[in-house]
Amino acid sequence: MRVAAFSELTGPDGVSIIDRPTPDPGPREAVVDVEACAINRHDLWILEGDSAMVETDDLPFVSGLDVAGTVRAVGEGVTGVREGDRVVLCPNETCGTCRYCREGPENLCENFSLYHGGLAEVARVRGDRLVTLPDDIETTAAAALPTAYTTAYHMLRRVEAGPADLVFVPGATGGVGVAGVQLAATFGAHSVGTSSSREKLDRLESLGLDHAIESTDPDEIRDAVADIGPVDGVLNHLGGAYTQVGLDVLRRGGRMAVCGRTAGGTSEVDIPDLFLGHKRVVGSTMGTQGDLERLVGLVADGALVPEVDGTYPLEETGAAFAAMQDRESVGKLVVTP
Ligand SMILES: NC(=O)c1ccc[n+]([C@@H]2O[C@H](COP(=O)([O-])OP(=O)(O)OC[C@H]3O[C@@H](n4cnc5c(N)ncnc54)[C@H](OP(=O)(O)O)[C@@H]3O)[C@@H](O)[C@H]2O)c1
Ligand SMILES: [Zn+2]
Repeated sequence: MRVAAFSELTGPDGVSIIDRPTPDPGPREAVVDVEACAINRHDLWILEGDSAMVETDDLPFVSGLDVAGTVRAVGEGVTGVREGDRVVLCPNETCGTCRYCREGPENLCENFSLYHGGLAEVARVRGDRLVTLPDDIETTAAAALPTAYTTAYHMLRRVEAGPADLVFVPGATGGVGVAGVQLAATFGAHSVGTSSSREKLDRLESLGLDHAIESTDPDEIRDAVADIGPVDGVLNHLGGAYTQVGLDVLRRGGRMAVCGRTAGGTSEVDIPDLFLGHKRVVGSTMGTQGDLERLVGLVADGALVPEVDGTYPLEETGAAFAAMQDRESVGKLVVTP
């Protein structure tokens, strides 16, 4: 089989197509013919050499979390899926024995890690991490869900989004951002989002964004959101200076979920404003397999149409990462091995 491997951690030009033996499933494993694998900024961090997870000694490395396709074979002990089933993978890797695996939620697992290996024609995965797909969900749409949509969904739950709430999404045009905007509507909430690009915001408005702010300047954004109204929840995947902006526009008692660091891994925070305003900041990583199953249900019901901006054949995986790096896209980019 062919895989799109990271041969050098130099950015998009470090991706090369190489041959690997096609895997067979071990006990409790399944192998999946990968029809679609969405890419995430997490993969781009690795490819740019900006992740402690992968070092030069690990190369070539096959990334890719968001696998959707058809089960090719299952190993001993797999009961939930069988050959020929259309599936999407929950990329959570958990130990199954720690306190959080026993009591939930599973994404708090003390040994939490993520599956990598979807940027390939065939992926070997844990059988019990596969979610079967209804016939009317396309694999490209399904591949959009596991990381971006599940993360945004879990964050909306962490900020307790509800009907008529206002949810603020700084950097609303990427994977987590678009998912946050679309899913806020399914909670009955309104959204305000930012982007550097008017054109991308126009597209986002057609996907349900209620209030668009074209700016990357923290002060400008703070003023523009304040004009719309105090917000009930913030989905913060940017970090950096945007954390304080989010706190500034939060209503008293409002909540911010943080999942990322695209604009900076540290933030300076006004402590008196935090405690005098009774504001809450919560960390959030991925979601549960149950969250992914609920999202598949929303797509099946027609309540959610995952936004896929572009599909790329396996040999153009590097171009997909270049598009992400250049901030060209709205929503998800999907490789179709
Ligand atoms: N903890 C978790 O479980 C988890 C899960 C998923 C993602 N994440 C994290 O969440 C973040 C988003 O991931 P993603 O896959 O959605 O990324 P993505 O698709 O690349 O996000 C693109 C968005 O980020 C904005 N952006 C990019 N660079 C920026 C910068 N330097 N300053 C301000 N805005 C910038 C873009 O704004 P423009 O519209 O202006 O281009 C766009 O709205 C990443 O940090 C990722 O690691 C964490
Ligand atoms: Zn565990």
